[in-house]
Amino acid sequence: MSIKLSHRLHLLQWALPVLILIMAMIHQLGPARYVHEMFGEWAHYGLEILFYGTTGPVVMWLTLRTVRTWVEQKEQAEAEVYRLNGELQQRIDERTHLLKQIIRVQEEERKRIARDLHDDFAQTLTALTINLETALQNLPASMSPLREYMVRVQDLTTTTLEQTYHWIQDLRPRVLDDLGLVPAIRWYAETRLEAYGVKVHLDIGNIRWRLPPELETTLFRTIQEALNNIAKHAQAHQVLVRLVFTDGHVIAEIEDDGLGFDPQELLKVHEGMRGIGLLGMRERVSLVGGQLTLDSKPDGGTRIQIEVPWTA
Ligand SMILES: Nc1ncnc2c1ncn2[C@@H]1O[C@H](COP(=O)(O)OP(=O)(O)OP(=O)(O)O)[C@@H](O)[C@H]1O
Ligand SMILES: [Mg+2]
Repeated sequence: MSIKLSHRLHLLQWALPVLILIMAMIHQLGPARYVHEMFGEWAHYGLEILFYGTTGPVVMWLTLRTVRTWVEQKEQAEAEVYRLNGELQQRIDERTHLLKQIIRVQEEERKRIARDLHDDFAQTLTALTINLETALQNLPASMSPLREYMVRVQDLTTTTLEQTYHWIQDLRPRVLDDLGLVPAIRWYAETRLEAYGVKVHLDIGNIRWRLPPELETTLFRTIQEALNNIAKHAQAHQVLVRLVFTDGHVIAEIEDDGLGFDPQELLKVHEGMRGIGLLGMRERVSLVGGQLTLDSKPDGGTRIQIEVPWTA
């Protein structure tokens, strides 16, 4: 076990002056005394003993005590920093754990709502459309006002059904669970951006293997938010989505030629007033040990790179 510096100084603080005192005494009582006995000057001899015997040790003791006090203060401050670091790390761990749980529960809840909407609501609407169709086919030609009314109800039912499928896809795209990340990104980029007249270039290869579900969800949700932001804010003409699988990493890049923005400005926006899309992307990526780089400037477009660790 190593002895603390302040304890060593404490020891020195007492040992050194005593050592100096002993040496001074040996000198004075030995060679110095001999010389003085030979040549006299006893008064001077006494004064010399007093001076060496007190001044040196006292000065040494005071100096070492001051140094020891400094060192002790430094050690106390270091111990406090160490303790606070431990507390901070514990809070970060708890927060990370909580965030992971929240995201997992959110995804499960989305899946459950999407399944319920599909199995209950959409099925009922489908049955309603089929029944309306059958009723229309069996309706006598003489009842044309009722026919018109029923056609309107049928149209309304069909529109609601389409809207329901749209919600289901938004909540949790089946393509992500069934076919994986690459087809899901391709589907989302095309349906979300091409509706806005944005030209989408996809450079995402044709990877057939599947990533772990947590990673697929993280990458899909972050790319989804990046594409949503382009649709909402960028007024872009061209968008490039690139997905690269390297040895040890998956890298996703989303680049647009739109309005761009100053990322520093976002920090100035009062909390509660600003969106949480970019923050959420960063958090999600860091939870799987990855990192997100945002590069944007006014009139210079926006480029987002996401890099997460993964080995096949
Ligand atoms: N691709 C982009 N082009 C231009 N501006 C962007 C782009 N992405 C983000 N921004 C700007 O950054 C801001 C913050 O984006 P963020 O996704 O955090 O919030 P939001 O989209 O406004 O709201 P939310 O995502 O919570 O619905 C946006 O309001 C927008 O001004
Ligand atoms: Mg957003």
